[in-house]
Amino acid sequence: MKSLAVNVARVESRSPVWVGRGLVANAASLAEIQNYSRVVVISDMGARQVTDSLQAALKLSEQNILFIEGGESCKQIQALERLWNFFVKNRLDRKALVFAVGGGAVSDLVGFAAATYMRGIAYIPIPTTLLAQVDASIGGKSGINFGGAKNILGAIRQPVGIIVDVNTLASLSSRDLRSGFAEIIKHGLIADRPYFELVTSRAFSEWNAEELVEIIFRSCEIKRDVVEADESEQGMRKTLNFGHTLGHAIEALALIDGVPLTHGEAISIGMRAASYLSYRMGMLPAQELSAIIAGISKVGLPTRLPTHMEESKLLELMSHDKKNVAGTTRWTLLQGIGHAVFDQQVESPLIRDAIAEIQA
Ligand SMILES: NC(=O)c1ccc[n+]([C@@H]2O[C@H](COP(=O)([O-])OP(=O)(O)OC[C@H]3O[C@@H](n4cnc5c(N)ncnc54)[C@H](O)[C@@H]3O)[C@@H](O)[C@H]2O)c1
Ligand SMILES: [Zn+2]
Repeated sequence: MKSLAVNVARVESRSPVWVGRGLVANAASLAEIQNYSRVVVISDMGARQVTDSLQAALKLSEQNILFIEGGESCKQIQALERLWNFFVKNRLDRKALVFAVGGGAVSDLVGFAAATYMRGIAYIPIPTTLLAQVDASIGGKSGINFGGAKNILGAIRQPVGIIVDVNTLASLSSRDLRSGFAEIIKHGLIADRPYFELVTSRAFSEWNAEELVEIIFRSCEIKRDVVEADESEQGMRKTLNFGHTLGHAIEALALIDGVPLTHGEAISIGMRAASYLSYRMGMLPAQELSAIIAGISKVGLPTRLPTHMEESKLLELMSHDKKNVAGTTRWTLLQGIGHAVFDQQVESPLIRDAIAEIQA
């Protein structure tokens, strides 16, 4: 007999987050599916096994399930149209429920489809990558890419619940698992020093499943707290952007250079740069900067740029970031480990120094 309740921790919020092991088998009762008129599942092909278990748990027929190719390329308007068509074909009404099984790309796409169909129907993500479990599935932001710009069409609408089943990570590559740890480290850095110390005390691969449940649970709590304080990103939610101002430019340039980095790898390097800026601006003691670099490395993530990256290209890409307001980059920095401050203006020479600091 599998005991489900033991590992289930419920983060109390408008959208409950259930974190544990083996939760997919219990999805019908967690989601209280008897309250909905119809239930469908949109699934990442990369998470087929999870969807097979979910189909059995919900007693759905094949007509109620749509498999799509996961990953960034699914976040496009044609896929959205395919989902809306699928909803119509399944005669979903306002009382219907949509499950999204897969990585952050699938939850972004499905969240947007559900937010727009009939002006918004219920949806529940079942994230199957570590990044989606601790980040993308929490907070209600959804969206697709359009006209060459990332996440430019989207919505903010909270799911009715989030089922985080740590067992679904079993098939994830170790590079993707490690990548998800970058956001976990970020949560510690911006909000919880003891948590930062805990999660950087070992290599990412050394945690067992039970420990991962605890770690993921705390990350979900931190993200939930930030989102509940500032759903529409007027203030505090910007602290989640720590490491991302330069990190996004690093991620984009790596792709252009033909040697892609994962999001978490790029963000790790970006977090080192933002920590260095915090130090240079007199907000972060030198020994804390060293502890951050050592911690990121201990987990197994990079803290230096790939050798081929040029400063000028990074600066150029940063100037395109959609989070810029009227041409100035505003940074989230650290006022000591565990405390982030947003909207910090940083002068260009200092940004160049930070890039030099992270150069290989
Ligand atoms: N809405 C938000 O607040 C938010 C926050 C952070 C990131 N995001 C978005 O999340 C996306 C990135 O998400 P991601 O890192 O999960 O990557 P992803 O969704 O692109 O998935 C990466 C790959 O993993 C596969 N996959 C999924 N689950 C798997 C499993 N259990 N085993 C093996 N393979 C599996 C997918 O098929 C895909 O090929 C980006 O589009 C980003 O914009 C959104
Ligand atoms: Zn991120």
